[in-house]
Amino acid sequence: MNPASGWPSRRSPVRTANIHHKSGASGRSRATRQGLCAVIRFENVGLRYDMGPEVLRDLSFEVKRQSFQFLTGPSGAGKTSLLRMLFLALKPTRGLITVLGRDASTLSRTDLPSIRRRIGVVFQDFRLLEHLSTYENVALPLRVRGREEASYRQDVIDLIKWVGLGERLHASPVVLSGGEKQRAAIARALIDQPDILLADEPTGNVDPPLARRLLRLFMELNRTGTAVVIATHDLDLMEQVAARRLVLSDGRLDIYD
Ligand SMILES: Nc1ncnc2c1ncn2[C@@H]1O[C@H](COP(=O)(O)OP(=O)(O)O)[C@@H](O)[C@H]1O
Ligand SMILES: [Mg+2]
Repeated sequence: MNPASGWPSRRSPVRTANIHHKSGASGRSRATRQGLCAVIRFENVGLRYDMGPEVLRDLSFEVKRQSFQFLTGPSGAGKTSLLRMLFLALKPTRGLITVLGRDASTLSRTDLPSIRRRIGVVFQDFRLLEHLSTYENVALPLRVRGREEASYRQDVIDLIKWVGLGERLHASPVVLSGGEKQRAAIARALIDQPDILLADEPTGNVDPPLARRLLRLFMELNRTGTAVVIATHDLDLMEQVAARRLVLSDGRLDIYD
């Protein structure tokens, strides 16, 4: 994989303008007041499944725009559960989640799709559709929205090349290796240019060299303005970069900036 700089840097002028606008002299205080600096904010969030004990307790933190962080903790600590709440796929049993300045509990069914589009997710099991090619899988979010293929075709191809799958454009996920599937899933999560990318154990199924290359891909993405949250229990991976760590243990969250 050799990420060509083409895809993310093509987007950067737009993003830079956007960021500039939000952090401008008077813009910053207004944005802060309205909570717009955070993509997602949790206040005293708790989660229990059914009648079980609280698996997550008193979580208060925010994911800022353009930030990069690891979400870590042992297996069963609640990383996937927390990611599902970040993605609005799971409601907390208490507390407040604010996404892009909106209280998640007040979002209607019709509001949800447009907010979710701002959040890219790479699932642990990839969730690629086997009857579609790599190209079609990556293009799917746009197709589902009814976009004309001519308007996105080149962007999809550029993004697939950026993740290093240019040779696999027309391959079915069935013949892709674990690392290739991972990169196809990352491309699909990014095609709609989300404000935040959530990845659940993205290096869980790849060897250490590929894990390092995936990490570089996430960091390059982050430099173009996308906030990144990587759930992982891979200590070697986290040692590669001095990034913020959100650490879950015994249901609680400690933050190391
Ligand atoms: N759908 C579910 N129903 C009941 N309990 C669950 C469910 N999903 C996760 N849990 C429990 O919540 C806790 C956290 O799980 P999870 O979020 O998957 O942790 P991690 O991703 O860190 O391994 C575990 O005790 C797990 O058994
Ligand atoms: Mg998990």
